Amino acid sequence: MVEEFYRENVLMTGIDPGNITTKVSFLNVVGNIENFTIPTVIASAPESAVSYSQQVDNQEDVQIEDYIHIRVDSPAVDKDENNKSWYVGESAKKSTNKLQPNVSENGDAEEKFTDKNRKIFVLPVLSGIAVSALKAGKRHVIAPLSTGIPSKGYLKHEQTLKQRFVGEHRITFIDGPYAGETVIIEIKEDDAQIHAESVTTAIALMYDIENGELLETELKEKLAGKTYTISDLGAGTSDYAVFNENGLDKVMTRRFAEENEGEMSRIGTNPYIDRIIDAVYHDPKFEQQRAIVERLQDESRKPSELTSREIFMKKVVKPAIDKAFETNKNPVFKYSWARTKDVDITKHVLSEIKKYAELQIGNIDAAWVMANTDYIIAVGGGVLFGHFGGLQNLVENEVIIPDLLQSQYFTSKAYLIVSYLMNLQAKQLQS
Ligand SMILES: Nc1ncnc2c1ncn2[C@@H]1O[C@H](COP(=O)(O)OP(=O)(O)OP(=O)(O)O)[C@@H](O)[C@H]1O
Ligand SMILES: [Mg+2]
Repeated sequence: MVEEFYRENVLMTGIDPGNITTKVSFLNVVGNIENFTIPTVIASAPESAVSYSQQVDNQEDVQIEDYIHIRVDSPAVDKDENNKSWYVGESAKKSTNKLQPNVSENGDAEEKFTDKNRKIFVLPVLSGIAVSALKAGKRHVIAPLSTGIPSKGYLKHEQTLKQRFVGEHRITFIDGPYAGETVIIEIKEDDAQIHAESVTTAIALMYDIENGELLETELKEKLAGKTYTISDLGAGTSDYAVFNENGLDKVMTRRFAEENEGEMSRIGTNPYIDRIIDAVYHDPKFEQQRAIVERLQDESRKPSELTSREIFMKKVVKPAIDKAFETNKNPVFKYSWARTKDVDITKHVLSEIKKYAELQIGNIDAAWVMANTDYIIAVGGGVLFGHFGGLQNLVENEVIIPDLLQSQYFTSKAYLIVSYLMNLQAKQLQS
């Protein structure tokens, strides 16, 4: 079936537009799932490539997704911003005019795809499809859209969001390894799907795709005939979805989103990361650097790690956590700023990670009791973020973590698998 899809230029993707990163899963030529992330950050960009000397501008082993400088002609973009050039993700981070999702003081994430922030989410989604197409060696694809928004607000926005994406999108790469190439993406109304986050995640617990074959996971048997709750620990929100023997329990799921004004779903990693960054900035070891930034009264003189959560996570936090997994040791976090090198910032990071973990353990326990299901399952990048702060104890508390290191990709994988299933069915009906 995969060959047939590829022959017809159908590119199967699943895209999870997050508050920090947009997760992209796609089905590659041999029918396996590949994942990558694009930071949810954009910035308006020059119309043409900026090129320095050949030696410095060596792009040989650059990942496409780290070099997104594109012109976008798309019905999903507001008219006055159409046919403009953008940096998306990695390449947008250093721009002083970068745009990323907001969080308010109390940690509330903004609604996604609103009039105000739409392009911050739309551009990474379109880029995700375009990059997947390039990775698959395609320049013109029919891409059944499969993406999602939080279950809170889902019913209100599902249809309008879908309509926005229907049509033909032209993504022209201005710079990077594919400079000058255009990817045409066709999204058709019939096979476009906007899912409710974590509701669809259940699919990835039960199925996987390998070499073009749909497989059942080990967990499927364990969950058969049982009830369970999925908690998806994200950057802006934590979503809870409750499943009973007949599938999604809408009443219970809605209660989690709405009870106490959504108190439980409000908790994301963002405010914790912000406080870590603030503590690092105010570390006495960086007094001299801080004095200079303050004298210039120019926030943009701060290093990019201290102005973007996403860069801070990617450059400072994640590598230390990944290394801790590799070496089986506790993570040590370090940060260098100009002449002050390798300052140990572990205490700043750990104190917030611990607070986060404590709160989430409490919430997950409460969710389990309130939902009264047989099992509870934790996914989302927050599972990794809080791991060394105490979330590693979740497993002792019998919380299921299906695939710790892939936790971040659970939702995008689920969107892809659902899309695959639907298109498979449509094909079988045709023939
Ligand atoms: N390997 C890792 N180590 C530490 N933190 C991680 C790791 N992977 C992801 N995270 C962090 O976990 C948090 C949640 O990530 P995730 O991608 O699930 O959030 P999101 O989907 O962007 O947010 P939301 O679902 O609220 O929109 C982020 O702050 C991310 O940086
Ligand atoms: Mg998420």
